[in-house]
Amino acid sequence: MTDSVLPPRLPARVRLGQYPTPLQHLARLSKQLQGPQIYVKRDDQTGLASGGNKTRKLEFILAEALAQGCDHLVTLGGPQSNHCRQTAAAAAALGLGCSVVLRGDPPRQRLGNLLLDELLGAQVHWAGSRTRDAVAEEVVELLRASGRRPYFVPLGGSTGLGALGYVVAMREALAQLVEWRLDIDVMVVGSSSAGTQAGLVLGAALTAYPGKILGISIDAPAPELANTVTRIALEAARLLGPEAAAALLRVQVNADYLGGGYAVVGALHTVVAAAVETLDEAQDNAHDRLSEIVPPEFELPQPEITADAPKPLFDSNENWPPATQKLIEHRHGDSVPTKPSRPLIRRPRR
Ligand SMILES: Cc1ncc(COP(=O)(O)O)c(C=O)c1O
Repeated sequence: MTDSVLPPRLPARVRLGQYPTPLQHLARLSKQLQGPQIYVKRDDQTGLASGGNKTRKLEFILAEALAQGCDHLVTLGGPQSNHCRQTAAAAAALGLGCSVVLRGDPPRQRLGNLLLDELLGAQVHWAGSRTRDAVAEEVVELLRASGRRPYFVPLGGSTGLGALGYVVAMREALAQLVEWRLDIDVMVVGSSSAGTQAGLVLGAALTAYPGKILGISIDAPAPELANTVTRIALEAARLLGPEAAAALLRVQVNADYLGGGYAVVGALHTVVAAAVETLDEAQDNAHDRLSEIVPPEFELPQPEITADAPKPLFDSNENWPPATQKLIEHRHGDSVPTKPSRPLIRRPRR
């Protein structure tokens, strides 16, 4: 993608990450699976208390926050939210206060991203039986009443503004493909709050990228996710002007790998039927499944989400389009262990 397909001036952006993130060929895994050649775009290495996809989104969102004179960020997520950890890290880097509202009740042990949230100085609020939105609204009001200037960052940073981070990421990836002399048929991405996929889809439309962007749903049925991706991509396109707003969006999602839902790595061919009652159990389950399905070259994917995106890669029943020879998995998580007492990945015994 050349700069000319983006408007001369993107909205303001504050630099938080390290780019370009590496592109990596998984030669052994590709051989082992005997399918398409697999490459990984390592957005788990963007930076901000290790990395992840929120860095790119936050660069645009926080530029707006700073322009509005904000001095405190408020956001929400799951107890092990990558988004909250990265928002807390961004706040620390920019000298802002930060409050994160997390789903449910505090766990017995504070580990992983939750521990990092606290180490980074974020104020943690537990939603308990209330909705996170209601609690976040209350936190914003309390901050205002005490004279602060809070800025609310929506779930996952998945707004049109945040998605621009992935329009720019598409340009970065395509430049790497030119350098590597690679044609990539499919880009696979884990999709939840949908801003990442929305940005890639819009970036693909603006560059006339001929391949497929396939979102693997983490927690929503396919039509719902496709609608959200489309809505956010249109919102992002409008920020780029009329030419971008007219771009033809191709939104493709696959919800066949939902398994037991968010944070539960389901079996590849069967839905995990057992109800998972607590997050702790969900994480145990995720670690166990990971150790079975993750080949050695795969490098510590985070169980909560990252393990979902590559599932189709391991699925011998997956119907890649017949011409698929090469694909990229966009990797967005990091490897913060949520249970340091257990090895994150145990090699399957042979
Ligand atoms: C590691 C990881 N991969 C993928 C996603 C999905 O990104 P998005 O929420 O933009 O759909 C998330 C978001 O929670 C994530 O943490």
